Formats: sequence, structure tokens, C-alpha cells
Amino acid sequence: MNAHKVYTDYFFDEPAFNTHDGGYVPLVRPEVDEQPLNIPSVLSPDKETDTDMYYTVIAQAGETQFLPGAKTKTWGYNANYLGQTIIFKKGKHIHVTLKNELPELTTFHWHGLNVPGPIIDGGCHAPVYPGESSEIEFDCDQPAATLWLHAHPCPSTAQHVWKGLATGVVVQDDVEAALPFPRNYGVDDIPVILQDRKFHDDNQFDYMADYDPDGVQGPTPVINGTINPYFDVTTQQVRLRLLDGANRREWRLHFSDDLEFTQIASDGGVLPEPVTFTHLMLTCAERAEIIVDFGNYKPGDEVTLYSDDIAILTFKIHEFASNPLNLPDHLVDVPDPEVTPNSQTHKVVMSGMDEEVALNGRKFDMQRIDDRQQLGNVEVWDITNTNDMDGGMLHPYHMHGTQFKIISRNGHAPYPNEMGLKDTVSVNPGEEVKIKVWFNHTGVFMNHCHIIEHEDGGMMAQFEIFDPDHPKTYKLMDMDTLMNAFAKERGVSREDLDMPGMDM
Ligand code: C2O
Ligand code: CU
Ligand code: CU
Repeated sequence: MNAHKVYTDYFFDEPAFNTHDGGYVPLVRPEVDEQPLNIPSVLSPDKETDTDMYYTVIAQAGETQFLPGAKTKTWGYNANYLGQTIIFKKGKHIHVTLKNELPELTTFHWHGLNVPGPIIDGGCHAPVYPGESSEIEFDCDQPAATLWLHAHPCPSTAQHVWKGLATGVVVQDDVEAALPFPRNYGVDDIPVILQDRKFHDDNQFDYMADYDPDGVQGPTPVINGTINPYFDVTTQQVRLRLLDGANRREWRLHFSDDLEFTQIASDGGVLPEPVTFTHLMLTCAERAEIIVDFGNYKPGDEVTLYSDDIAILTFKIHEFASNPLNLPDHLVDVPDPEVTPNSQTHKVVMSGMDEEVALNGRKFDMQRIDDRQQLGNVEVWDITNTNDMDGGMLHPYHMHGTQFKIISRNGHAPYPNEMGLKDTVSVNPGEEVKIKVWFNHTGVFMNHCHIIEHEDGGMMAQFEIFDPDHPKTYKLMDMDTLMNAFAKERGVSREDLDMPGMDM
């Protein structure tokens, strides 16, 4: 259907782009030598059998040479900054040892993974204390997709991610494996984690100095942890697994020569049909897998990826064998179950900016369950953003534990690249987005704006997915326990904890 249509706009409401915010920090291309794009290595399983995979994920502190001169103190997963890419195969039972070698508590949240909550999901109820480890296990039972792992210790998620606690997670399955997509990791299938940072004295991060309740930004694009990166193109087609891993920044992506590219997957997996673009906007936590065809270029040429008008990644063209992209018009069947008759419609209202942000008029409370849905039901969630059309913000709405389908935006069809599964949907000011949501597992899960400072600031809630035949009670963490632990670990009094955002 879309084979010949090329989309050239960003779809979202232009007056709400983050560039219009008073506190907007424009990107600046760093004046340092270009460096090869860091390709995170793949985390090797400790053990793999026909049925099971075993991994150890370590949250650790280290140092990273981003800029000439002093190294930057950073955190990462099995790495100094960001992490190794974790690959799960659909159908396997996965065991993960989560180890915390940081000086303070953290959590390991599997963003986009359909697993039980709240412990396996790894939100704020699942702290792993310094020097300790915990074990989780779950079935990997969802379509091939690009997901991610990030820290989620409310209200310090933003600070932990800023320090580097985020990494790519790839689910593989037979359906995706049968499609004619590039999939040679590191060669023609590469993760592209989009972040921005500010470097202070001695090239260090200083989260508190950069703090903005509407989201922390920095002027320097940091792509897979690389400053001013280039990638050597040795195949005609390259698949980019784009992830907006920034705390606040939207990425408005386009290539030099307005080169067309094709989106093949969104947050939760492969799209029903490929969609061709010249411009693509990603908001916080969203993913898009795109295939870029360099067939019109010759060795020695360079192709630049921009966000707005700043170059963020250069592709250096080398010799490659001709390999035209022949995608079928239909890629996969995306599940689209019927809404359960007579089920309720859930309302989510995202309101405010700065410290005023709220979800359904309230701030997050770890011990309060705000909504419930029965396991097995397919229900409509109705998400509105009450910010003004003028001067308001886009709020990327995320739900844990599910991949949902977007029904409509203000009564209209979703954007053309929103026909697949999503776990994060950005809602324009004044917009009402309806989504269809179902779950494979019970648990207590979180839903929130994924501007991470908004989520830390309380634009977040919790819901329970319950099975009436197997009712459960959950022992939920409380904020006091977490705050006292943070204070103790940081060696400060509770009042001196530098944790902005949430009322303490
Ligand atoms: Cu990326 Cu609460 O999640
Ligand atoms: Cu999540
Ligand atoms: Cu928000």
C-alpha cells in the first residue's frame, strides 16, 4: 500500500517541538576529531541450552574517553558506558543474574519486554542493593523487536540513565529471520542509541548543574557513547536500530540529499508494511528500525545523518556488492485483538509542565495502585495531554509489561509508522490518543511520561493486571525505604540527598 508513498514530514505538531521551549539546549557539533561509531559488543550468554539462556548483567562504574583529555566517570551494563547488546530468542526460558557493583542501589528495567511485574519487570519495586545480586527468570514470548534495558530507581531514574545505565536488548524470532532484512550485527545491522550530554570541568557529567524539571539536555550528541562518530559502510543496505535514549531530547532525523529510508519496525517489532520516509521524529524511549539504501553512492562518498540541522553521524561509503532492497509490501501480521465487550475504558490525563506535571491530577505514589485490568482482557486506554497547543510539550506515554496497538489520534488514524506494536506513544498537546492494551502476565506495572525527569517528577502511576482465579497481593516498596537507602549509600542525610523531582 505504501510502497510508492514517501513521507516527508515529522507528523507531530510543530509548535510543540522541544526547540520551542525556553530551556531548549540546541545541539552543537563537537569540535573534536571524528571517531568510529562504537558498536556495543554482544553480551555472551553464560550458558545456552535448547530451551534456556543464562545471562549475567552487571551494573558497574567506570571511565569513558569521550573527549580528548580527562576521561568521564560513567556507569554501564557490563561496560563502562551504556552496555553490551543483550539478545533473547523467542521461545526460550531466560535466566538473568542482576549484579549491582555500583556504590548505590539501582534497578534493572526491561523496557518493552512482556514479563510479570513488578519484580521481573524491574521498576522501582525491585532494587538491587550495592554489592548484591538477584536472579530473575522469565519466558521470552513476544515477536522479534528492539527493546532496551535501563535503570529505574524512582526518583533517580533520570540520573542513573544520564550516567549511562541503558543498553539495547534484541529479541529474535523465526518470523523476522525469514524476512529479507540485513542482520549481520555490527556490519549491516547496527544499534544507534541517540543521547545528548553536557561535559563540565575535566570532561565530567554534572547532572545537578544541568537539572531542568522538564528534562535534562546537553549540547553534545553522543551516539552509542561516541562523540562525532562515523560508520564505515561496506554493504548497500544498512539497518539501523534507532533508540531515543535521551532523557528529554526529541530527534528529528534526516539524511543529506534527503536520502529516502524505509522503516521496518517500531517499538514492539516488525511493521505490517514498510514505510518510506525522508524525515523521522523519535521521542524519548521510542525505537525505529530503518533500512538505508546507499545504492546511489560510490566509494569515497559520505552521507550524513542530521538531527534538525546538526550532523550527528557520518556514513563513509566503501566498496560494496550491489544488493537492491526488495521488501515485500506486507511484512508481518500484527496482532490486533478485539476489545473485550463491556470492558471499561481507562483514562490517563497527562497535565502540567516543570514541577507541576501530574498523571490524572496526582503525583506518583509507590504504594498506590491507580488502575486495574483483568488478565486476558483487551481494553481501551484513552491518553490525553492537556498542555496547551501553544507552548505545551509532547509527552511520550509509556506502559510497562505490554506492547499495545494505537487506535486513533484525536479520532484520526495513527501515523503511518504506528501500525505495528508500540510501548511508547508521544501525545501532542491537546491530543487524545486511544490505544488497545492487553497483557500476557499479571503484576503491578508502571505507566508514565518517558521524559525521564517528568517520570521522576511524578507524571507516573501504577496499575495491576489481575487474574480473578489467582488473586495476589503485592508487597510494594515504599519511598521512605528507598530514600533512606540512597542517603545511607551516598553518605549524606536524607535532607541533603540531591534528588530533584519528587517531593520527598
Ligand atoms: Cu523505559 Cu518505566 O520505563
Ligand atoms: Cu518501561
Ligand atoms: Cu512529559
